Amino acid sequence: MLERLANKHIVLGVTGSIAAYKAADIVRRLREAGSEVRVVMTRAATEFVTPMTFQALSGNPVHLHLLDAQAEAAMGHISLARWADAILVAPASADFLARLRQGRADDLLSAVCLAGDVPLAVAPAMNQRMWSDRATQENIQGLKSRGILLFGPEDGSQACGETGVGRLQEPLQILTQLAEVFSSGALDGLRVLLTAGPTREPIDPVRYISNHSSGKMGYAIAQAAAEAGARVTLISGPVALSPPPSVLTLPVVTALQMFECVVQQLKHTDIFIATAAVADYRVTEVAPQKIKKTSAPLTLQLSLNPDILGQVKQQAPHIYCVGFAAETEQVVPRARIKLQQKGVEMIAANQVGGENNLGGFSSDNNSLTLCTPESEVTLALAPKAKIARELITHVARSYPLWRQTRKASAQILRFGKPPL
Ligand code: C5P
Repeated sequence: MLERLANKHIVLGVTGSIAAYKAADIVRRLREAGSEVRVVMTRAATEFVTPMTFQALSGNPVHLHLLDAQAEAAMGHISLARWADAILVAPASADFLARLRQGRADDLLSAVCLAGDVPLAVAPAMNQRMWSDRATQENIQGLKSRGILLFGPEDGSQACGETGVGRLQEPLQILTQLAEVFSSGALDGLRVLLTAGPTREPIDPVRYISNHSSGKMGYAIAQAAAEAGARVTLISGPVALSPPPSVLTLPVVTALQMFECVVQQLKHTDIFIATAAVADYRVTEVAPQKIKKTSAPLTLQLSLNPDILGQVKQQAPHIYCVGFAAETEQVVPRARIKLQQKGVEMIAANQVGGENNLGGFSSDNNSLTLCTPESEVTLALAPKAKIARELITHVARSYPLWRQTRKASAQILRFGKPPL
């Protein structure tokens, strides 16, 4: 379950409460689950635990001030809010909840919460009287009505010596609920097959032809699909990434191996997403020994590799197919041509290369334009994990309609048009 937290960017807000020491355990567990964590502390929180503790545990500088010229240039409130996949405030004091309810932005944590458009969860911790007070309860109702998630608080003995509701939930319980945030269920029961990364086409035993694909986009999509409830198989070229949790990852090297592996999986597939940067050509005759350097020019003969995506669409038209178009210019028009030529349901177009390479190969960020025969949606530059979730949301939305339309036209072909 906590594997859903892998590769997530979590902003952890820590406010002034005796339970602030438990936030250290939350950071530790988040890191163990594979999240990247940035801690934002309120001034009061620093009275309970030092920023140094969180810096050491998170491996990142701790964010303390709203108006800090240096911090704003590096990662200020807007960039922190944009960076986050989720914001968790644990412990959340009564005062912080009141400020959040009011939509204040006069300290860093409340400003980040206001600027974020990602899931926001609060785990309150306070004296039981303060929790049951009408003011706090009204604030909680207000926050819930804005879609803010509430984790706890728990009933039990308190640091002040009283007993009642107001204890911070245990870190594991908090993280289990946070992990739920990343499970959409949008692809429940569906089987998704992906290709990712580059392929390597050998020239001789020591050399090969390849490209700059890092596999990051494909791996992020595989994880997003698994989080959406799909059973995911990822066929990956050589990359330096760990296989995403809950995904069956099958490593291959060459385009031909990738093709064979894909074909074997087709009968278990509902949706095929081809993110791999497959080499278009392979060396026709791979030299059995290392080719020796001579003063004469060397000519390599290349043969065309199979177009995996195009072949899948031809062999299995019942599979919903998504392709990628990495282009250095004329990105969307070329994606539209690919959409038609390959007869697929969606092409995700992205700009690669050039001096202003803001996304694409190797980068942690990307922006995509999703082209379908009927529509065109641009996903603005964001971390690949976020872009991947947005892409999966679009696929999950259009898949059922596409399937229905396909079934209806198949029936018309078999039985003719029904009378009006
Ligand atoms: O224009 P191109 O054929 O390279 O289109 C790119 C799309 O096709 C990508 O989705 C890529 O994964 C897929 N592709 C493929 N097999 C190839 C070449 C491209 O599946 N041999």
